[in-house]
Amino acid sequence: MQINEERDWEALYQANDTFWDHGEASPGLADYLADRPEAPLGQALVPGCGLGHDARALAQAGWAVTGLDIAPSSVPLAKRLAEEEALEINYRIGDFLSDKPHQVFDLVFEHTLFCAIPPARRGDYAEALRGWLKPGGLYLAVNYMITDDNGEPPFSTTTTELDRRFGGSFELLRRWTPRSYERRTGKELMNEWKMRN
Ligand SMILES: C[S@@+](CC[C@H](N)C(=O)[O-])C[C@H]1O[C@@H](n2cnc3c(N)ncnc32)[C@H](O)[C@@H]1O
Repeated sequence: MQINEERDWEALYQANDTFWDHGEASPGLADYLADRPEAPLGQALVPGCGLGHDARALAQAGWAVTGLDIAPSSVPLAKRLAEEEALEINYRIGDFLSDKPHQVFDLVFEHTLFCAIPPARRGDYAEALRGWLKPGGLYLAVNYMITDDNGEPPFSTTTTELDRRFGGSFELLRRWTPRSYERRTGKELMNEWKMRN
């Protein structure tokens, strides 16, 4: 795979090869939500939601959640898991980078989408993000801070790159090392940004 080729996510779901999936929400997101029981709620978008573990955690916390994924076969799987918990989540098939937003959101939560897209599309990602958010909206990201690339996702990033790509349109509210899945311990960084009006 060339570094800027798109990965065939649909083929991976069809082959039941969701090797990135940990069967539970990002521990960093779970802690973030548990630490803010009184925080204001609203409409949240989870782009690249996969099987929807993070979408369900946000819905459990009271957010009205839309999960968006480019791979059609992920959606029935995510819907079934939400139904098992009696959660109402709006799952949609779509491309976060190029779809015209059907609505705007108070929060976009990111977890292993930025590192999964070809690095050449990261400018498109930042531009699309601005389109999906309300002015003053929050962008909460669990970034995978690996430094080595082997030509396929996950691709590396640095805080310098994150600041360059998002720092112009967003104010960084907080940056911290979260609790992680065991295999990702020390490799994740959470970034909470607020879109400037
Ligand atoms: C590495 S997986 C992460 C899934 C989930 N966020 C998680 O952490 O378990 C990346 C997900 O992003 C989806 N995806 C990739 N490109 C996308 C795009 N442009 N728009 C929406 N979803 C996309 C893939 O289908 C896949 O479900």
